[in-house]
Amino acid sequence: MELLDIIRTRHSIRKYQARQITREDMDKVIEAGLRAPNAGGRQGSIIVGVHNAKLTEQLGKLNIAQFDRSALLGNYVSEEQPSIIDDPNIKSGFYGAPSVCVIFGPEDFLYSVADAFCCAENMILEAHSLGLASCIVARGEETFDNPDGRKFLRDWEIPEGYIARCFVLLGYLDGREPSPKPLHEGRSKIID
Ligand SMILES: Cc1cc2nc3c(=O)[nH]c(=O)nc-3n(C[C@H](O)[C@H](O)[C@H](O)COP(=O)(O)O)c2cc1C
Repeated sequence: MELLDIIRTRHSIRKYQARQITREDMDKVIEAGLRAPNAGGRQGSIIVGVHNAKLTEQLGKLNIAQFDRSALLGNYVSEEQPSIIDDPNIKSGFYGAPSVCVIFGPEDFLYSVADAFCCAENMILEAHSLGLASCIVARGEETFDNPDGRKFLRDWEIPEGYIARCFVLLGYLDGREPSPKPLHEGRSKIID
């Protein structure tokens, strides 16, 4: 598939089969993240692939635990793939995905967040090209800011001064592929 077709046909997926992805596919998705553009060529982001459905579920619950729905009142994300913003009955911020990649960045670097999301974008495009379903999820900082979260950081030997910036969920789509969303008008121009 041409890159623009991969971009056009990728959607955030929030309903996953229990089927686990392969380690090989996770390696490729992580490599795509590690090769993302990064401010100053620092290569500051660190990616942890959690290839374990039970651990992914635990993290997904920590991710949703501190979620303040009221701050997002009035928002609506998707009818076909409702997010935790849309549906208060969703109990995990990771929607049953069997794997997740956590992207960490230095706490004190101006472009730490931007770098992490560049990684995430590369990763979801690679995932889609491999036939995997994916979704970027925020709230990395809050997810690990509690005793259970800090234990994960110790177990994974995350260096001091690093903080989780975002997640990339990985798995296989459950149900129908969502239809493409129409682009809002007037969001770009070309000046000759
Ligand atoms: C910075 C950022 C944060 C996001 N955080 C979440 C999130 O926490 N939970 C979620 O379900 N989707 C999250 N998403 C996915 C967006 O909701 C999704 O990209 C958007 O609705 C457009 O849909 P599409 O990706 O299918 O085109 C996030 C996307 C970005 C870029």
